[in-house]
Order: sequence, then structure tokens, then C-alpha cells
Amino acid sequence: MKTIDDLGDLRGRRVLVRADLNVPLDDDGEITDDGRIRASVPTISTLADRGARVVVCSHLGRPKGVDPNVSLRQVADRLGERLNRPVAFATDVVGDSARSTVDGLGDGAVAVLENLRFEPGETSKDDAERGAFADRLAGLTERYVGDGFGAVHRKHASVYDVPARLPHAAGYLIQAELRVLRQLTEDPARPYVVVLGGAKVSDKLGVIVNLLTTTDRILIGGGMMFTFLAAQGHEIGKSLLEADQLDTVRGYLTEATERGVDLVLPVDTVAATEFDAGAPHDIYPVDKIPADRIGLDIGPATAERFEQALRDARTVFWNGPMGVFELPPYAAGTRRVAEALTKVDGLTVIGGGDSAAAIRALGFDEDQFGHISTGGGASLEYLEGKTLPGLAALDD
Ligand code: 3PG
Repeated sequence: MKTIDDLGDLRGRRVLVRADLNVPLDDDGEITDDGRIRASVPTISTLADRGARVVVCSHLGRPKGVDPNVSLRQVADRLGERLNRPVAFATDVVGDSARSTVDGLGDGAVAVLENLRFEPGETSKDDAERGAFADRLAGLTERYVGDGFGAVHRKHASVYDVPARLPHAAGYLIQAELRVLRQLTEDPARPYVVVLGGAKVSDKLGVIVNLLTTTDRILIGGGMMFTFLAAQGHEIGKSLLEADQLDTVRGYLTEATERGVDLVLPVDTVAATEFDAGAPHDIYPVDKIPADRIGLDIGPATAERFEQALRDARTVFWNGPMGVFELPPYAAGTRRVAEALTKVDGLTVIGGGDSAAAIRALGFDEDQFGHISTGGGASLEYLEGKTLPGLAALDD
């Protein structure tokens, strides 16, 4: 995979950077965590320092067509603050504004294009439609730098088709992410412990299959724990259940036993009368969850079990919060797991938007962890052993 240094003298060259500036927004549309913007700075500022005319593109959210609620304008402004230099903004992706904005860039200047997903060609499944859009995007610039790690698992025009049309290289963020993922997949120090949370088992199916062959211990929390508990025969009240996954999950339980992988499941939960911070809530052992309660966090006995299971770990990968950490009564499980990770004597990797946002929201210092990945879906698919389109495109 080529790096920026392989692209030669970039002074005066128009360089397209595919970043992942898909940051979380609150109900008022304000950015709640700008980790992805900060992670994009080293590549963009290096290119600008070398005199390139830098054109940054990204998606934000999942709009179907133009949607002002997910305009990249405020993201461009925040990028300017983080870069400490002015950032121009094009009000379209490949139209008149994009062309004139790019034409107006001087050496070392930076512009951001409007949300890639305003253009149907970006995400089209039809190769010709995607290709036609990729032609227009590639036509704006002379070089391509892929640095949007969080989107490399998407076969989208800006990720997959544009690099085929321009001399290309990987940016610093993609290189850094890959270095860590290789450490996880090529001979990790043992015990290798994986902590999985988040809402749905169905999102994690492929990776669990793979992790059962590579890890020593898997700790299950978050909303997905209830499908595991139901598969064990527990009543889970109104908690999240993916009934269509029960057989698959039973298969995991059997396979883990056969392979000698320690699958550590919760023994208690914090369950409330409803999904609300103000709702009455209590701690219940997993075999005594009342029918009218919904489990929203792992309980303290589970947190202690998880701390114990992490104590001797030498490699840890964590994806997905342990509970609804955004609501204070259900944040303790996620906080205790994060604290346990800070004490691990070895490599700790936090994979993914939600878990990364969780540790920042809970006030942890990023330096307390070995690596905080900017890509949840992308890192899971990498660990699954899949070929990621955005990496394959940069590989030649
Ligand atoms: C992410 O948030 O995981 C990436 O930005 C990819 O976004 P997507 O899931 O909408 O493709």
C-alpha cells in the first residue's frame, strides 16, 4: 500500500482526501463528539504543509438525497478550528460550487465538499451509476488519498471507484488503524480477551464466528446479552430480544465450550420499568428479571466478573457499550469496563464509534487506552477476515 510520500512532489497538485467525518449529532444537530475530525487532521495538515491543494470529502449520516440537516458545513468549520487554518466549503459535491471552490484553492489551502451521500451515485449498487459519479469526483483533482478508515468496508464511489481513477495512497489514519488491527490478528499476546456490547447480536454474527477461533475469552454485555440469556433459557422481561438469532446463539454457546473459549455472560442486570433515565430501576440476577422490566445495563456482579476476566489480559479488543451509557443510571457497566481496560498490562483497542464516544463522554482520557479506532463496522469486518473494498482499492 502506497503512502503519501510515494505520491511525489505535491506542491500545487489538487489532492482529494476521502476522510470519515461522520460525527455524531444531537437532536439540535450539534456535533457531540469530534474524534473523527481530530483523527483526520494529521493527513490533511501534512498535505497542506507540502503545498497541495487539499479537497476533503466525506459522508455524514445516511441521507436519501439532499438533506440540510446533515450538511457538512459545520463539520468543515470544526475541521478549520482543529487544523487552525481556513477551510473553504463547496455547497455541492461535484457541481458548480465544487468546481469553482477547487479552482479557487491556492497552494496549501483546504476545502471540504458537501455530503457525498447527497449524490445517489455514491452509494449505488449499480457499477455504472457509481462509476459515472466517481468520474466526476475524480475529475476535480489529480491525486487521491484514502484516509476514511470508518468507511473502508463500504463499496462506495469515493471509497472504492475513485482510487481506481487516480494515482492513490493511504493516509496516516488508515495506516495507523491497520498497524493495530494487524497486531490483533497476527499473533496477539495472550490471554486475548474481547468485550462485545451494543444493541444487536445480528450486527456481530460474522465477527463472533471468527473470534471463537482466535480469542481466549469473550465477554458479552449490552443489549445483545439478552439474546444470549434467553438462549440459556432465562426470562428476560421486556429486554431486547432477537428471537431469530436464538438458534445461532445456542450454536455459539456450544462451539465456545468445544473450543475451550471462555464465553463470559452477565449474571445480573440493571432493569427499569421503561427506557427512561427517570424510570424506577433495580438490580436483578439474570434468573429473576421481572416480566415488566427492561434490562438497560449489566449489573455490579457482572462488572466485577468482567473486571476479573480482564485482569490478566495481554490483548483486549472492545466494541460496543455495556448499557445505555448516555443515561446516567445505566452508565456504570460501561464505565467499569473502561476503567478495567485502563489497568490492563498490554494492548487495549477500543473499536468503534459508540464505544469510543462512550469513553470520551464518560470523561476518560484517550491516552489511557492503547488505540481508539475510528471505525466500528470497519474494524469488526477486518477482524472477521473480510476483504474491505476501501483497503483493496488502495492495495495496488
Ligand atoms: C460509521 O459510522 O461506521 C462509518 O462512518 C460508516 O457509516 P455507514 O455505516 O453509514 O456507512
